[in-house]
Amino acid sequence: MGHIIQLDELLANKIAAGEVVERPASVVKELTENAVDAGANIIEIDLEEAGLASIKITDNGSGILEDDLLTAFSRHATSKIKNEHDLFRIKTLGFRGEALPSIASVSKIKITTSTGDAGSSAEFHGGKCISRTAAPARKGTDIEVTDLFYNTPARLKYMKTVNTELGNVTDIVNRIALSHPEISFRLRHNGKTLLHTNGQGDVRQVLAAIYGFQTVKKMLPFKGESLDFTITGYAGLPEVTRASRNYLSVLVNGRYIKNYAITRAITEGYHTLLPIGRFPVVLLSIEMDPILVDVNVHPSKQEVRFSKEKELTSLISETIKALFHKETLIPSGLKESRAVQKPSEQISFNWDESVKKPFLESSKTKEDEDVFLPKQVMEKQADFREDAKRLTDKTTTQHLIKQHEEQVEEFDDEPVPARRMPDLSVIGQAHGTYIICQGTDGIYMIDQHAAQERIKYEYYRDKLAAPARETQDLLIPLTLDYSTDDFIRISENRSLLEQVGVFLEDFGTSGFIVRSYPVWFPKGEEQETVEEMIEQMLTMKKINIGKLREEAAIMMSCKKSIKANHHLQKSDMEHLVNELGGCYDPFTCPHGRPVIIQFSIYEMEKMFKRVM
Ligand SMILES: Nc1ncnc2c1ncn2[C@@H]1O[C@H](COP(=O)(O)OP(=O)(O)OP(=O)(O)O)[C@@H](O)[C@H]1O
Ligand SMILES: [Mg+2]
Repeated sequence: MGHIIQLDELLANKIAAGEVVERPASVVKELTENAVDAGANIIEIDLEEAGLASIKITDNGSGILEDDLLTAFSRHATSKIKNEHDLFRIKTLGFRGEALPSIASVSKIKITTSTGDAGSSAEFHGGKCISRTAAPARKGTDIEVTDLFYNTPARLKYMKTVNTELGNVTDIVNRIALSHPEISFRLRHNGKTLLHTNGQGDVRQVLAAIYGFQTVKKMLPFKGESLDFTITGYAGLPEVTRASRNYLSVLVNGRYIKNYAITRAITEGYHTLLPIGRFPVVLLSIEMDPILVDVNVHPSKQEVRFSKEKELTSLISETIKALFHKETLIPSGLKESRAVQKPSEQISFNWDESVKKPFLESSKTKEDEDVFLPKQVMEKQADFREDAKRLTDKTTTQHLIKQHEEQVEEFDDEPVPARRMPDLSVIGQAHGTYIICQGTDGIYMIDQHAAQERIKYEYYRDKLAAPARETQDLLIPLTLDYSTDDFIRISENRSLLEQVGVFLEDFGTSGFIVRSYPVWFPKGEEQETVEEMIEQMLTMKKINIGKLREEAAIMMSCKKSIKANHHLQKSDMEHLVNELGGCYDPFTCPHGRPVIIQFSIYEMEKMFKRVM
């Protein structure tokens, strides 16, 4: 008799649960996605102890037929795909037919569901059905998961603090809500509302509920199209940065995904506008033929593979680059925000709390109950309440959606301005560091070092991109020595340096000799410049000529720029301001720090109480 046996279904489900049900957030994700797939327009999520004690999800979707209820909890059972053809054209969030049996195998579940006719109810413990009863006919599904991981002690021990688990849950619910502004979501923890979206289809309302109204005011709509892809979304102004990539949300055909190449394309779109180590706040939604994306990569369905990744990533970078190239990105000197707009220019949201009240008696809770919440969630909530108070009823959501569409359209036709800097006249220099100017709408301060870095950076970048024709011979050739392995790597890539006008000749066993250099090299720093270029080539694991040129341009711009505490003549300042105005991206230095800030007339009038 053989040793190999077929595992029973309960055990197989428990094994699958290892991947599908990692933590409470995965349960919330799977059950919420089921509700979305069921066509619900109201979804309520109630948690206790970050979901470790209980997760209750109520939807008003299609419901499950009584005859299907047990089948839904068996392995590989789904209503979403039927054959191989469907697997390559997935339009729903679920398709694997394993979420319910996997969750059931590691928890206790109570489900009540109805398609509108007589309802049914069932209870499962560790995947086994322990009771079935008739239930009221409220169309939709009510599912409660308790005692998660009660029968998998190792996984239970692995759970982090309530704070961490709750953070993971809110993160996932936020992103599902962003993917479906047409659905009203309400997330509550121990009775306290953490997120409530109105389901009226305006993604800006969802963004405001998550990030706060102030942040959303600083997000610009964008749209880009190629043959295969349409991308839309909102991108935060470069001044609104965060320390992690967590504020980048990427959706593909309504599914929240994680993809390194896409997030990199977004940050590349911001290019030198962001300080090093900081990330933007962006919502990016990609629509494409489902045949071009494979979602069957991992049981969590968050990883995907694109068949035309390069086309997609360059569409994303280019769209974001173009978006900011049309903007005047001068932050206000008063606080870390763009110059305050006059009240009449500010946008307002319609925040109608009464639109969608909880639709079940049982879901009513006391809003003011004192509950334990992570600090970030508390802060966000406080912000959010503040914002909600400030929001006015002036505009309806429909109007806002229209306005948004118009904004995107308008933006499509808008010609790129040749000069994005306002006309400025120089007043003088302060502390040997800042140039003070006046424009028609206020006073401007320019950091002279940052300004010159930007000017030089663009100069060297253009020089490095153009074929190097003119070279200058060195009186005494430069000699460079390297270890044997570096020598081999440099030799292999020497054509890259030749493209920017640096010609290396072999010298001795592992050295080079350089007899000439391009005329535009910073004078007197030829040896250092060549050495740094080679150093960059060695440190960049994958050598890419574009990146090499860019790094070299940044390095060269920093070297030759006037430092702080350096007195300038008025004519020097005027020349600098004029050159800055001619830059492609005049508002930040190549490291993403601001070059210019503004004090608008309105802000000054407010400060001096000339206006209230
Ligand atoms: N809230 C719900 N409303 C209506 N039907 C539901 C709901 N939840 C689950 N179902 C039904 O139960 C089936 C099984 O759900 P399950 O989540 O296990 O699999 P799936 O969603 O098809 O695929 P995946 O495993 O990828 O999530 C679904 O295909 C759907 O028909
Ligand atoms: Mg599912």
